Amino acid sequence: HVLDKLRNRSKYVARSCKEIKERYNEQEDGLYFLTTANGLVYQTFCDMTTDGGGWTLVASVHENNMYGKCSVGDRWSSQQGNNADVPDGEGNWSNRNTFGSAESATSDDFKNPGYYDILAEDMSVWHVPNDFALETWKKAAILRYHTDSHFLPLYGGNLLQLFKQYPVRYNVGTCVNRGPAFAIVYDKGNSETVRNLYGPNPRAEFVPGFITFRPINNERAAMAICSGAKPVSGCNTEHYCIGGGGYFPENSGQCGDFPGFDWDRIDRVRGWSASKEVTEAAVLLFYR
Ligand code: G3P
Ligand code: CA
Ligand code: CA
Ligand code: CA
Repeated sequence: HVLDKLRNRSKYVARSCKEIKERYNEQEDGLYFLTTANGLVYQTFCDMTTDGGGWTLVASVHENNMYGKCSVGDRWSSQQGNNADVPDGEGNWSNRNTFGSAESATSDDFKNPGYYDILAEDMSVWHVPNDFALETWKKAAILRYHTDSHFLPLYGGNLLQLFKQYPVRYNVGTCVNRGPAFAIVYDKGNSETVRNLYGPNPRAEFVPGFITFRPINNERAAMAICSGAKPVSGCNTEHYCIGGGGYFPENSGQCGDFPGFDWDRIDRVRGWSASKEVTEAAVLLFYR
């Protein structure tokens, strides 16, 4: 039955899950084949149900080793050490490199061609505990939300273009030069959930209910996304925003895919430290 379904789905030619839904009337969450403008075929997960469905999984940000600081596996920051001479780190927020696979998206980093190929309007984000299987993601997620303001076309239609405008690069600006923030609609959890994901000190710096792009901290280190939060009264964004360039001047312990989530102690909500739940969950990024 599953293989029959896939045999049928493999005939689809569409650039996004939204197009699959519209063109072939598919209503089921799961894996589908997508095709880029150049004709490259790849497979990813489609959320065909949330808020009408049509959401394409394009990436996941996974922290494989909180003790490893800009080391192996820190693809969304740097795998080359905390180094001012590598201000962009891996550069994966604004290039066409791809890695991982949909089924491994909660066990390692994932980035597929949809990240740069799809022209989208909105984003959806899921925080899914590490190593959970694809069919359980939606239920297992500790937080799910989406935007509905159609903000992406204003920034080029996807994250590749947005991060070209707002480079995730050390020393590109100061805290006041952070990128845009957009209101979110919760699909699972609420603002209280967001507050409790992060430490008590960051809670006094951000307001929940937003997704923020390219925050910059006190020392001019750049990060990529504050998931669920908008920095408003402080610039220690390294404790609740993810991804980054290749250099975090305050301390080499802040360089990584989940930068300073373990500042006061790993896996405990204390001081600046994030919760065990959010630290051990992959951040899945969708477009629609
Ligand atoms: O990121 C936290 C660090 O910059 C300052 O922490 O509480 O020692 O002032 P604190
Ligand atoms: Ca790491
Ligand atoms: Ca990683
Ligand atoms: Ca700091």
